[in-house]
Amino acid sequence: MCGIVGYIGKKEKKSLIINGLKELEYRGYDSAGLAVLKDEELSFFKAVGKLNNLANKCENFESNGLGLAIGHTRWATHGKPNEINAHPHLGQYSCVIHNGIIENYKELKEKLEKEGVSFLSQTDTEVIVALFEHYAKNLEAWQAFEKCVHELRGAFAILLISKKDKEKIFFAKNAAPLIVGKNAQNELFFSSGDAPLIGHCEDVIYLEDLSFGYASKDELTIYENNKLKTPVFTKLPQDKSYAQKDGFRFFMEKEIYEQSRVLSEVLMGRVEGGEIVFDELKDENLKELSEITLCACGTSYHAALASAYLFERVAKVKTKVEIASEFRYKDALITPNSLFIVISQSGETADTLEALKIAKQKGAKTFAICNVDNSSIVRLAHLSILTRAGIEKGVASTKAFASQMLTLWAISLYIAKEKGFDIHEHLQALLHTPNVVVVSPTLHERIRRLSKRYLDGHGFFFIGRDVFYPLALEGALKLKELSYLHAEGYASGEMKHGPIALADSKLYTIALMPQHLLYEKVKSNVEELIARDSTLLCISALDFDLSDDLIKINPQKHYMNEFFEMMLVLQLLALEISIRLGNDVDMPRNLAKSVTVE
Ligand code: F6R
Repeated sequence: MCGIVGYIGKKEKKSLIINGLKELEYRGYDSAGLAVLKDEELSFFKAVGKLNNLANKCENFESNGLGLAIGHTRWATHGKPNEINAHPHLGQYSCVIHNGIIENYKELKEKLEKEGVSFLSQTDTEVIVALFEHYAKNLEAWQAFEKCVHELRGAFAILLISKKDKEKIFFAKNAAPLIVGKNAQNELFFSSGDAPLIGHCEDVIYLEDLSFGYASKDELTIYENNKLKTPVFTKLPQDKSYAQKDGFRFFMEKEIYEQSRVLSEVLMGRVEGGEIVFDELKDENLKELSEITLCACGTSYHAALASAYLFERVAKVKTKVEIASEFRYKDALITPNSLFIVISQSGETADTLEALKIAKQKGAKTFAICNVDNSSIVRLAHLSILTRAGIEKGVASTKAFASQMLTLWAISLYIAKEKGFDIHEHLQALLHTPNVVVVSPTLHERIRRLSKRYLDGHGFFFIGRDVFYPLALEGALKLKELSYLHAEGYASGEMKHGPIALADSKLYTIALMPQHLLYEKVKSNVEELIARDSTLLCISALDFDLSDDLIKINPQKHYMNEFFEMMLVLQLLALEISIRLGNDVDMPRNLAKSVTVE
């Protein structure tokens, strides 16, 4: 998502910061900014769009000689991607850049507004600099920063500079990465990833959560858990492509591992005091909804299919699901008081965009569930909710699917709550979901070892019931697009209506057997396949002696938690089979990340 760089030294600071930010471009961003503090002067520049726009804005600015510099690329979460919301955020004499989300920013903002502070942007970040300056009225800069950090809740990597102490960069880190680097010339660097540091410094400290401190030319002070810590540097690996993938073999693998963090971000600010909160929906009257139509393509369509079960079961709203390319030409009827929701990672998929236009023309109220702010779909829909997955580089969707599913589930709970239904159990499960998708080394290794048995055969069937049926479709799609092996997803009750004719030992069936949803039903479908000698790989929390292979998931309390853990297993399985087959996992043949043609 966002990127951070910082520098203390004598080199030309503008180019150093922009070049550093370029190394973080692959994470995606929609605006950028930088600030330099040298002598008495605090200069800052911001621009919407690519880094070239920022470079153009500060074309005539140069800063040599000892000073401080910070730079940021922003991926919008709170507030539109415009210059006001871009970082650095300014106070009277200080400025701040920040990655992550300050969960309690609203209460802090209200508190400061009562003290007469006014805010320019819609961001959570601006409260940091305002709070710092509020305390700095009566305290030294370092003490004010310390006090300010203690009041922040949420995920953050923060760099702050202030004319009140023009020799120091103040920093804080919790649940968002921040690295400090140094070199033999006594220069200090900050970054949210390794890549900008490579070539500039050899030694780094990967700050731990709940760290904060300050750095100057001659001093680095770090507190961890409020205890002073002796800075211990480690060697920085010098391979850039390895650094961009954070050491993973493929971007897709990295994105699978990122899912836990991404899902925490999806939930940030959306569950408060046991209530589901969607600021985006607060002016909508969703109690009276008569019908929802969900419309999308590919993986996003699978998220639509799975969430349709939740909209009907939990929110009790009649829900239809449409493939966007089909919807375009079917002259569909739009019922009054119905809601048309399009789901898209890129926000640019031609079929989904066209379906949205048609639904809007026919008078439907339209929502977009999308990962890219300012995309065509977001701009066209009446209302949009961002899925906060960050840029997805692997062509095959993984974390984007996870974030769509969690967002849609949360929306279904929001509607259910509006209608007065008890959502307690679902809410507990929703909050637990980020823990469920943490990749354990044992699970990954088990799947890696098993994958060697599934490299041939005449086909794969992925089967499941209820929400696990769309998940089976998604598992089959992941496998076929990455491995080029033939795979289909089926509702497990449908096998006996035809597909079971293919069953033999070279037909591999991947069965999703959740403990908490229709277990016995799926089990009898699986037994029918075993009786026909199909090779069975079962995914379940329960033992199942008849299966050829079993991938055990952790016992969960709720079927939706089983859903997310099984999703992880299916992603890792497709990844490992494809790696064994020698395929380019990040760029499978014939596929594009954003399908902007019909
Ligand atoms: C599969 C995949 C595609 C997309 C589809 C829709 O892994 O990524 O099936 O889901 O092309 O794209 P978006 O969500 O961008 O509309």
